[in-house]
Amino acid sequence: MFKFPELPYPKNALEPVLSQKAVDVHYEKHHRKYYDILSKMIEDTSMEDKPLVDLIRATATNPYVFNAAAQIFNHEFFWNSLSPVAEQNSMPPEVEKVITIPYGTVENFKELFLERAGRHFGSGWAWFVMANDEADIWITHDAETPIKTPNVTPLLCIDLWEHSYYIDYLNDRATYLEKVFNIINWQFVKENLNKTV
Ligand code: FE2
Repeated sequence: MFKFPELPYPKNALEPVLSQKAVDVHYEKHHRKYYDILSKMIEDTSMEDKPLVDLIRATATNPYVFNAAAQIFNHEFFWNSLSPVAEQNSMPPEVEKVITIPYGTVENFKELFLERAGRHFGSGWAWFVMANDEADIWITHDAETPIKTPNVTPLLCIDLWEHSYYIDYLNDRATYLEKVFNIINWQFVKENLNKTV
């Protein structure tokens, strides 16, 4: 089976936006829990040697395996969507170009992204994706993930589950979203533009 993905930076690297404690609990207790659950479920089965993305797509009708596998993918994608490195927090022109086609300005995109993420009811994920070659904002429920949809490439995601912000922001999801938006790894977004998952 694939290895539990490592964090791309030290646990305290996202402070003051996300505290070391918040990242530690999120990564070690939540993200790792899905890995442990999945490991037990697929041990000694034909699924054991499959890559994670294949597992998500092949098990879309098995909610137990799907939920754990998708949450592992979504969390790894979330950690990679953030960066403590200032240069990576500034948007490359290639990304700006893709955003401005449907949204006019980056500011419009930000406003809409934060609004849609902020009004999502319950647990889920906010995504920036390329869907059929056009930039789009997707909000998914629970463990749902865009990678099971053909012709959709995720570019970045933000965790909307309460466990992602409660330690640092209590119930103030809007402030969490505002702050986290400032540490998006736009270099990661740019790299994803050229990928087909
Ligand atoms: Fe999470």
